[in-house]
Amino acid sequence: MKARVTAHERYSISEIDKRLYGSFLEHLGRAVYTGIYEPDHPTADANGMRQDVIDLVKEIDTPICRYPGGNFVSAYNWEDGIGPKKDRPTRLDLAWHTSESNHVGIHEFADWAEAAGTEMMLAVNLGSRDLDAARNFVEYVNHPGGSYWSDLRKSNGRADPWDVKLWCLGNEMDGPWQVGHKSAVEYGHLANETAKAIRAFDNSLELVVCGSSHSNMPTYPQWESTVLDATYDQVDHISLHMYFENYEKNTAEFLALSEKLDAYIGTVSGIIDYVKAKKRSKRNVTISFDEWNVWYHEREADQERMKNWGWPHAPVLLEDIYNFEDVLQVGCILNTFIRRSDVVKIACIAQLVNVIAPIMTAPGGGAWRQTIFYPFMLASRHGRGTAMQLSVDSPTYDASVASGVKYLDVSGVHDADAGTLTFFIVNRHGTEEIETDMVLEGFGAAKSVDHTLIQHDDLEAVNTADKPHNVEPRPGKGASLANGKLTVKVPPYSYSMVRVSL
Ligand code: AHR
Repeated sequence: MKARVTAHERYSISEIDKRLYGSFLEHLGRAVYTGIYEPDHPTADANGMRQDVIDLVKEIDTPICRYPGGNFVSAYNWEDGIGPKKDRPTRLDLAWHTSESNHVGIHEFADWAEAAGTEMMLAVNLGSRDLDAARNFVEYVNHPGGSYWSDLRKSNGRADPWDVKLWCLGNEMDGPWQVGHKSAVEYGHLANETAKAIRAFDNSLELVVCGSSHSNMPTYPQWESTVLDATYDQVDHISLHMYFENYEKNTAEFLALSEKLDAYIGTVSGIIDYVKAKKRSKRNVTISFDEWNVWYHEREADQERMKNWGWPHAPVLLEDIYNFEDVLQVGCILNTFIRRSDVVKIACIAQLVNVIAPIMTAPGGGAWRQTIFYPFMLASRHGRGTAMQLSVDSPTYDASVASGVKYLDVSGVHDADAGTLTFFIVNRHGTEEIETDMVLEGFGAAKSVDHTLIQHDDLEAVNTADKPHNVEPRPGKGASLANGKLTVKVPPYSYSMVRVSL
């Protein structure tokens, strides 16, 4: 099978916002407790944070981390997580039917984020609480001093404000499962008033309003229209979420789901334009895709586990074990975000540790990289620069979510400073290699090419604590540069990163 990709130096989509490679940590299952925080662990630092996990987070190089939820935030009192740990209350977490010790709160998370080299993206509770709790939290986190909340922060050991720029106005407020779920009209009003109060404190903050939890939601896309109509002048981003499933074990259908993601982004982008035009506004609202991942492997088992389990603290929950097939899916998702980087400025893989996550830990034991760690790491590290507008000729197939799905899924990034072109390529075909001519125009002579390949004979192959290197990137032999002509042979069901030095 043959394909052709043409890149031209003058055809670009957008500068990529590095926050496209964001992540997410929720007080859920073992994400925080025995995930990032385990005071008795042999690698724990002075704050009780696992250094082995911090090292892996640094490797993945995620520039922002959303916190503390997720569904959890909608019944969370941020004040429970400040002050001496011995005085912090244990609360019932209604979202996941667990107990929350509050031993990790904003101070601990902030220290962790600094150690891990990532910036905080914080969510306020607009489910069970309102704008007062939200504005107090913002003041506690960001005000230098001389007010009740900022002085309380100081007395709790943090002199300087953290200066967090990015704030989420609640989480998935369209979801009936959410504590304090609201209609679009109710939420739009509350989000707008909360945003106004936060802006009265600091107009430079970036605010994210809730869009839909999935494009399958019955209220989508009217929700986006109503909520943006109420908040357009006060917000910077609208949040979208989407999780991907393959219950039918149909790889072709599964890998076509990124087309559904693409349509979702396109529709919401259109709604943003519609509201902008209606309001005669000059303001540009963009998309924060702040929860995405494959999530289905453990869903049924989790339902069973949760039956009659009382209120456990940090139980095993949502610990999907990712396989090689998921590498391909994550590759297609990331390619979609790069191709839509004109409107998607933030995206957060959900989540980061143990809970539907690229990083896994054993309590008291090791930490290892799941299969999906690698496509994320490669894109995060090398997918920065300008997204290129590629012309792609590829054979296609028809799936139930879309027709004309290209077997060759590709995105490209030009880093002019580094003098590199980087292509991320998924071959969606299970048996055919795709011999791809890469036509590069206007970039000058290519000096060298480097091919990194993730491939495994078994789509179900996983990484475990005992076998952590089963699925991982290896040097590929598919790319060749001869007489200025670049050709890439992409093996069936594979993920490739091809880097060209100019
Ligand atoms: O990431 C797991 C959950 O998925 C989050 O808590 C929620 O926002 C979404 O439904």
